[in-house]
Amino acid sequence: MIGNDGVRNDLRMLPGEMLALARQTAELLVQRIENLPEEDAWAGEFRQELEDHLMKPPPEEGRSASQVIEEAANEILPTALRLDHPRCFGFIPSQPTWPGILADFMVAGFNVNQSSWLISSGPSQLELTVIDWFRHWIGYPESAGGILTSGGSAANLDGLVAAREAANNPERGILYMSDQSHGALVKAARIMGIHPECIRMIPTDERFRMDMDALVETVAVDRAAGLSPVAICANAGTSSSGAVDPLETMADYCEAQNIWLHVDAAHGGFSLVTEGGKKILRGIERADSIVLDGHKWFYQPYEVGSLMVKDLRTLERVFASKQDILQDTIWGADHPNFSDRGLQLSRSVRALKIWMSVQIFGMAAFRRAQSHGMMLAHRIEEYVEESSVLEMLAPVALGIACFRVNPTNTELDKDALETINRIVLARVFWEDRAFISSTRLRGALALRMCVINYTTTWNEVRETLEAVSKFGAESLIQDPPPR
Ligand SMILES: Cc1ncc(COP(=O)(O)O)c(C=O)c1O
Repeated sequence: MIGNDGVRNDLRMLPGEMLALARQTAELLVQRIENLPEEDAWAGEFRQELEDHLMKPPPEEGRSASQVIEEAANEILPTALRLDHPRCFGFIPSQPTWPGILADFMVAGFNVNQSSWLISSGPSQLELTVIDWFRHWIGYPESAGGILTSGGSAANLDGLVAAREAANNPERGILYMSDQSHGALVKAARIMGIHPECIRMIPTDERFRMDMDALVETVAVDRAAGLSPVAICANAGTSSSGAVDPLETMADYCEAQNIWLHVDAAHGGFSLVTEGGKKILRGIERADSIVLDGHKWFYQPYEVGSLMVKDLRTLERVFASKQDILQDTIWGADHPNFSDRGLQLSRSVRALKIWMSVQIFGMAAFRRAQSHGMMLAHRIEEYVEESSVLEMLAPVALGIACFRVNPTNTELDKDALETINRIVLARVFWEDRAFISSTRLRGALALRMCVINYTTTWNEVRETLEAVSKFGAESLIQDPPPR
């Protein structure tokens, strides 16, 4: 394109072409969403295949934009786990709302850098609004605040850094978490320079919840040795089984002992919008810091997590930084610069997708979708309990069910159970449209279904359970594993 100065500017496009490409992209996306249920939930490929196709030097001259978009949509992006497929039950699936997807498109188009009030007043106010919604859902006081992050890992890191800065004796600091806690906490500790020998993995009870006696004893032993707790990390929905730690008891203990309570609610936090979730997470409002993940159970496109803290000052004390280059961005009180609340300086407008989704659908729709996920998880539990082939390996708390093949009429030892369940997992992977993943609970291989996608119905869940049962029964008949 030739600019108004007569100089060639190759990176610009004419409005008509821009619109045509945007329309083409939107059509491809809507088509994908429509066709998804008929496809497999998983479509990965080995590296060699992909490398042969994709590992090419960048072209010196550009080619047809329309063709490039088709190629991305047909040959690159679909080669992945379709986390929004109604039969995708692996890991933590997610189904972004269409307004959320459009919001991310708009955010990129408006090109706002939401680092400071000067640079992004409107979007900054929107983030304050969304953070205030979260504050209400949690039941936090006025003093609370937070920030939207790239995800749960970043939010956990920011929260633990705030805890460490607030600790009495951070040099001799110890971090406590349960043996079910997410690896993101260990990673955060490593980034913070907390060595593995300063992390205490506390055992869990039969429901995979923090064993309070073990926690209390461990803290006492450490304190007697001159060490100081940095924080105690609770889970509000472990990623393995969805277990929720005893939040009220932990809050009582942390208050009495003056220890920072950090809750990783990346999986379960947004269930707070429902009455059921509020009951399950009672006590969370007493935590010093809480991690939520909007790209999990609030149906948003990647990436959006959140760190909430009971006292906003604990966050700003750590992350506010002065730089000459940014001196013009200081507006003073009540005009926060979000870069003063976390790691990132340049940030995208993550609040827009949450705000637009809620404006367009309303909270009642979110509440129903959340409750639907919890209901599906409980129906799996009922199904498994009535089955003669399957058994539950953990009680259902939120949106995850863990079970395995273990027929009631057969005595199978540990190794045989491992073999059979591995076979079943592999057969679901290769032969069924669904995708489930596994975990380990007390050393046992658990088949794990996370059912928080709002397009998943009981039919898809039931058919997957039927396939698991069938594969389980067949693996016993065809190839009885050694006793
Ligand atoms: C409990 C929990 N914490 C933290 C994380 C990490 O979050 P993210 O993947 O958004 O970084 C996850 C992700 O699955 C999680 O389930």
